[in-house]
Amino acid sequence: MKDVSVGICGLGTVGGGTFNVLGRNASIIAGRAGCRIRVGRVASRTPRSDMDLGAIPFTTDVFDVVNDPDIDIVVELVGGEGVAKDLVMAAIAQGKHVVTANKALIAVHGNEIFAAAAAKGVMVAFEAGVAGGIPVIKAIREGMAANRIDWMAGIINGTGNYILTEMRAGREFAEVLREAQALGYAEADPTFDVEGIDAAHKLTILASTGFGVPLKFEQAYTEGISAITPFDIAHAEQLGYRIKHLGVARRREDGIELRVHPTLVPQSHLIAQVDGVLNAVLVDGDAVGQTMYYGPGAGAEATASAVIADIVDVARSVVSGSGQTVPFLGFVDSALEDLPVLSMDDVQSAYYLRIQAFDRPGVLAKVASILSEHGINIESIMQKESELTDGRIPVIILTHTVQERQMNCAIDDLEALTDIDGRVVRIRAENFQ
Ligand code: HSE
Repeated sequence: MKDVSVGICGLGTVGGGTFNVLGRNASIIAGRAGCRIRVGRVASRTPRSDMDLGAIPFTTDVFDVVNDPDIDIVVELVGGEGVAKDLVMAAIAQGKHVVTANKALIAVHGNEIFAAAAAKGVMVAFEAGVAGGIPVIKAIREGMAANRIDWMAGIINGTGNYILTEMRAGREFAEVLREAQALGYAEADPTFDVEGIDAAHKLTILASTGFGVPLKFEQAYTEGISAITPFDIAHAEQLGYRIKHLGVARRREDGIELRVHPTLVPQSHLIAQVDGVLNAVLVDGDAVGQTMYYGPGAGAEATASAVIADIVDVARSVVSGSGQTVPFLGFVDSALEDLPVLSMDDVQSAYYLRIQAFDRPGVLAKVASILSEHGINIESIMQKESELTDGRIPVIILTHTVQERQMNCAIDDLEALTDIDGRVVRIRAENFQ
């Protein structure tokens, strides 16, 4: 059996997990790859005294891995867009294949990286960048190759989902975030998790793989969960909904929707049951219908599982010598369509609104009248005397589907009412049609 040599760059959570699983499951992995996967070199800025690397050469300079002629596959687990990008571009320039778990790198620089890799005839694989251990990229790229994919929606940040799940039990946002960091789920900068940037990176990659469009991260709409309150979580529950932080991508005739925001989902939908650090991605294909991929979205060995799946793919191609690779985004370049990313004004959604109203006669009538003037149909309305404090009472409204442009105008008019205190809280709702 031949050897394929990998160089692991980065020994953090995912790097450590990858090293450990490659060692523990070496014979199973070799049986699947048709070759032995040998770790030829390991590089990490910070050595890990808790790991036994045996006789494997260790270096603190990741570029030593790229410059090692013995290495066939560079496994980039450094993270970020600085050194990681230089490392990946240097590996490609040297004709080495790349496996990465770095969603920011692919979402932001993927078009450039793929062009360089295509010119060199090397593979760049990034399964672990999206939804951790769930093999959703392979499911879309290979398993759904027959389908026109119309939309995708997913819980694609484990940290955010963990926080929202724990907040349902009344825990504080900051305390749960600290716990998620300690468990190794959160990004180096956790605002990436809670403000939806990490999810937008992953959604960008999903949309490109599903729809065959170039990566357009900078045009994704991103709204985080840091403003979500236990009050809204509890009231959404009373209306039969759960608040999830969703990434939604939809392909329309006029362009694609690319958006990450807190979303009310029906409690009866399977995705509402996805709790904790778990992720789930719904993918709707015209032939297969609605499918859902579910599993751990973060964590050392869960993410290592996806990294190693990519190593196996690349190793198979290396040993076969066929040079045969799947297109990076699942579509050959000439089939990619440069569709525009649509403005949020053009998105349609139902809405949860929370209005802090002064407890005066006629307020509800004024609110209803403004919504009606903008063609917005109310599905339900809730106001409880027991929630009256300091003369103000929250009014919770669930609307039917409406264009966001209309909703924005209605909210402007609502906020101009003297019967309303402060801003209107608005959360979109999704029914997955
Ligand atoms: N911080 C990410 C998350 C890690 O919580 O989902 C996996 O990408």
